[in-house]
Amino acid sequence: MDRLLVKGGRPLSGEISISGAKNAALPVLAATLLTDEAMVIGNVPYLHDITTTTELLARMGSRITLHEQMRLEVDNSTLQHMYAPYELVRTMRASILVLGPLLARYGRAEVSLPGGCAIGPRPVDLHLRGLRAMGAEIEVENGYIKARARRLRAAELNLELVTVTGTENLMMAATLAQGTTVLNNAAREPEVIDLADCLNAMGARIDGAGGDRIVVQGVDSLHGIRHDIIPDRIEAGTYLVGATMTGGRILLRNICANLMQSVLAKLREAGAEILTRENNLELDMRGRKPRAVNVHTAPFPGFPTDMQAQFTALNSIAEGTGAITEQVFENRFMHIQELLRMGANLRLEGNTAISRGVPALLGAPVMATDLRASASLVLAGLVAHGETQINRIYHIDRGYETIEEKLSLLGARIQRIFGETPGTRSRRRNIA
Ligand code: EPZ
Repeated sequence: MDRLLVKGGRPLSGEISISGAKNAALPVLAATLLTDEAMVIGNVPYLHDITTTTELLARMGSRITLHEQMRLEVDNSTLQHMYAPYELVRTMRASILVLGPLLARYGRAEVSLPGGCAIGPRPVDLHLRGLRAMGAEIEVENGYIKARARRLRAAELNLELVTVTGTENLMMAATLAQGTTVLNNAAREPEVIDLADCLNAMGARIDGAGGDRIVVQGVDSLHGIRHDIIPDRIEAGTYLVGATMTGGRILLRNICANLMQSVLAKLREAGAEILTRENNLELDMRGRKPRAVNVHTAPFPGFPTDMQAQFTALNSIAEGTGAITEQVFENRFMHIQELLRMGANLRLEGNTAISRGVPALLGAPVMATDLRASASLVLAGLVAHGETQINRIYHIDRGYETIEEKLSLLGARIQRIFGETPGTRSRRRNIA
């Protein structure tokens, strides 16, 4: 398995471009199942989760062509298998996003139940409850969701919890249902808005995306379009936290501030000076150490849970004490054990991580456990004395496009050590 080696001590400086958002690209790729006309999706990030999704679609019979600059052409006119196997779904829970479109377009689907993952059990009961309310017959047996529906019908759906992919799945299903569906307590994330924009361009009739009440008037069919994915606000936030932790100054291209106001507010509280222009963001710490901040994660427009681990790392070297409360997932503090091994002063009280900033972290071998936790360990390595080796970085490759290249462009000393397969020595790709 590949590993990352990070040598700390250098402030991040320079400029990089932000890639398309993973969590917008995944539902948009699922939305291609709603039409038999070819679709072209631009600004797709080069990530493992994208590869998994294209493999899933291809196994169904989708014809996918990769063009330059990660433009994907998807043609589902010859789809034969409405089936998502466990071996793929277990590596990427977001595979559940094919369920709504398959049911809406083909009237049947067999999708493996996504297992839990490191950050929590992550059930999909709200997805299934909504589809049943729209007339789908759904059985769950042998670990698979088996669903049928002659034609989905409109319903008034009251989501008990704010669920991002639940909102996306049900919104996609409703586009071809008979009548007008209402989604109450819908997720308001920018990725939901991007999906709604894509669906409306395909001929859907969706109002209210971005608010907590979404109204979808069903239509008979949707047509193919070209859609460019919005920038990744979590990737951007991760690099901004890196610059804040290292006292650096960076400029991010292809990102807009309105996607991440709650994160920018916390970075300013930590002492960062942030300039926002129409399509880029500049952060300058002027060599200062950050101040610790208090954070409560919440659905958008609240502070994103996907930025919690990165801010826990920031607090571990910030001045003063901070409290970070995780309110979305049950078990999203696995990075704390690893940060403690690097000398952080952190303790968990219930779902709150209390930190007292330390003068410095010490490099150590650490293990990535989930996508955002692994990013927080890379950030910790950027400020630690000595070298930090991050193992199991397949987690990070799921959500960060060429992280070592981008960090090297910002002056970090980071190397990828390619996995040692039996009989070969590990190879180092010198990046910096
Ligand atoms: C999406 O996951 C994101 N993934 C996650 O990003 C993100 O952390 C999460 O939303 C919250 O913002 C994608 O968009 C592909 P939820 P999702 O349904 O939709 C509970 C990353 O790092 N729930 O909004 O799976 C659930 O257990 C990933 O990029 C139910 O109980 O999250 C959780 O406690 C990690 N039943 C809460 O709701 C359901 O049917 C919010 O989960 C659905 C959800």
